[in-house]
Amino acid sequence: MSWSSISLLVTALAVKLQPCQAQNSTYYNPVLPGWHSDPSCTQVNGTFFCATSTFIAFPGIPIYASKDLINWKLISHAWNRESQLPGISWNTWGQQDGMYAPTLRHHDNAFYLICEYLGQSDSIVGVVVQTPDPFDDAAWSDPVLFRPEKIDPDLFWDDDGKVYTATQGIILQELDLATGALSPPPVSLWNGTGGVWPEGPHIYRKDGWYWLLIAEGGTATDHAITIARARNITGPYEAYENNPILTNRGTDEYFQTVGHGDLFQDAKGNWWGMCLATRSGPGFEIFPMGREASLFPVTWEEGEWPVLEPVRGKMSGWALPETSRDIPGDGPFISDPDKYDFIEDNAVIPKHFLYWRVPREDTFSVTADGLQIVPSRNNLTGIPDSNTDGVLSGRQGLAFVGRRQTDTLFTFSVDLSFAPTTPGQEAGITVFLTQLNHIDLGIVLPEQQEDGASSKLSFRMQSIGTVAAPEPKLVEVPSEWLDAPIRLEIQAADPTEYTLSAMPASDPDARVVIGAASAALVSGGAGNFVGSLVGAYATCNGLGSGTECPEGGVAHFTCWRYAGVAQYISATESVPSR
Ligand SMILES: *[C@@H]1O[C@H](CO)[C@@H](O)[C@H](O)[C@H]1NC(C)=O
Ligand SMILES: *[C@@H]1O[C@H](CO)[C@@H](O)[C@H](O)[C@H]1NC(C)=O
Ligand SMILES: *[C@@H]1O[C@H](CO)[C@@H](O)[C@H](O)[C@H]1NC(C)=O
Ligand SMILES: *[C@@H]1O[C@H](CO)[C@@H](O)[C@H](O)[C@H]1NC(C)=O
Ligand SMILES: *[C@@H]1O[C@H](CO)[C@@H](O)[C@H](O)[C@H]1NC(C)=O
Repeated sequence: MSWSSISLLVTALAVKLQPCQAQNSTYYNPVLPGWHSDPSCTQVNGTFFCATSTFIAFPGIPIYASKDLINWKLISHAWNRESQLPGISWNTWGQQDGMYAPTLRHHDNAFYLICEYLGQSDSIVGVVVQTPDPFDDAAWSDPVLFRPEKIDPDLFWDDDGKVYTATQGIILQELDLATGALSPPPVSLWNGTGGVWPEGPHIYRKDGWYWLLIAEGGTATDHAITIARARNITGPYEAYENNPILTNRGTDEYFQTVGHGDLFQDAKGNWWGMCLATRSGPGFEIFPMGREASLFPVTWEEGEWPVLEPVRGKMSGWALPETSRDIPGDGPFISDPDKYDFIEDNAVIPKHFLYWRVPREDTFSVTADGLQIVPSRNNLTGIPDSNTDGVLSGRQGLAFVGRRQTDTLFTFSVDLSFAPTTPGQEAGITVFLTQLNHIDLGIVLPEQQEDGASSKLSFRMQSIGTVAAPEPKLVEVPSEWLDAPIRLEIQAADPTEYTLSAMPASDPDARVVIGAASAALVSGGAGNFVGSLVGAYATCNGLGSGTECPEGGVAHFTCWRYAGVAQYISATESVPSR
């Protein structure tokens, strides 16, 4: 071998051994599909943590963890027990009152979650909880309460150790995390660029600047993220000349309402952001999943203004961290299908199941017969009158449990064992946005009975949106289906419509389509801030007295299934659900 060929070989080896250049990655939004608004995120030791708003739903403020920014596991809820805020849930009527706009931060080996509870008559209730272990519900502390003048508290530790909260306005106060004391008076930092509701502030310290990232324009199609910076935390803040730095305002993008976001770094130092967006298109009429969380890459050079990649269904940006599902905790990943038979001994109700307010004791349990729901006197609508004792309004909880619709196209079904004995008793499944927007398929013993009449399949919608609800329907249960579990199913085979069907659990081929309903019935309406859940309920429709329904009418659900089929990433393109 000649020297020249040896040197060629050496060169070839050298080329081969050069470090790999990390390629930019491609991924799809939303990374937290389904109702996940106001995301706030942080990264610790290579694990990302995000919190989102839950309003009136309980448990509240889910904490998701991921090592790769794509596979997100539900690890805990910051508000997971009634005793953290005694009585507050049952004192809430407004369908989108409750826990708003968290900020999640890590400081001195603890995670801190700050947010506010709206809907109590006296004031905004500021809430700070903390935990050394976000993988454990029980480790979240009882809250320190404070009384902010405005909503959407940020939490920021300055270099000198002082702790600040900025809120809607944007105004700034020092916050004593031990007592909840706020320093008066608030300092006005910035009024934004002229959009309504400058809110959702987050302050970052970088390169000798205080950077103030906010949302403005309201959380509908004018929503945007804007930024300002100052040398002193109290100002003066200078607005970026190219604001807004992130918005889909005035576009015909499928992802609308882009705004209310947070920025964070990965372990390599690359910047990313998460914000809310609605898959509605500019028409903003059909968006049953409400505001979802989307991920965007951020390029943030030293001393420069950050550049945020526009939010789309298909994204490209920094190399994602290596794919990993190695995350502790007993919750599901956001994209996992539901397969719960509820027949195992000691089966628990899965972590991602949600209730509308703190549930009444003993309403939900897993028994030998399945997931048991003891009916409530109030039905899913209730009587929206906060002057009653709360029993019929739903303020003491609905006998309903659901999970988020997390896919544009999906199938959800449960097998229902239900033997009503008193007219009015009902149990079934629902696409539920609020008490005033839901689409139900139940089995009911009708109140007006002819001789010998028995259970009927009831298809009924409740909506105060712009779309009028179609007439309800009562369909005879075929006699050969009686005395055996009946499978009830909701299918979204189309992004704009749900199909509700029933069949004997033992003979799915005998499936009967009971009705179809527009997804517009559960878009916006009384719940612009929330997103659709699918789940199961039981009620006696106001019969009985006090909190007690007439005897019987307890419903058992087995074979609970939810499977995503596809995610729409634009008005015309979809990708298979993960
Ligand atoms: C991060 O890593 C450090 C060093 O290993 C460890 O002390 C700390 O507990 C870790 N923090 C978290 C939240 O995992
Ligand atoms: C924001 O607007 C309010 C009300 O007009 C005003 O009092 C305040 O000084 C403004 N803040 C800033 C930082 O300009
Ligand atoms: C920052 O603001 C505070 C309070 O207004 C003031 O006391 C301080 O002098 C300011 N510092 C600088 C560097 O401007
Ligand atoms: C990779 O993504 C980052 C973040 O969006 C961007 O700044 C950079 O230009 C991209 N690089 C290439 C080669 O596209
Ligand atoms: C709910 O129950 C009330 C009685 O409490 C009844 O008047 C109403 O018709 C029911 N509505 C629905 C949608 O079931």
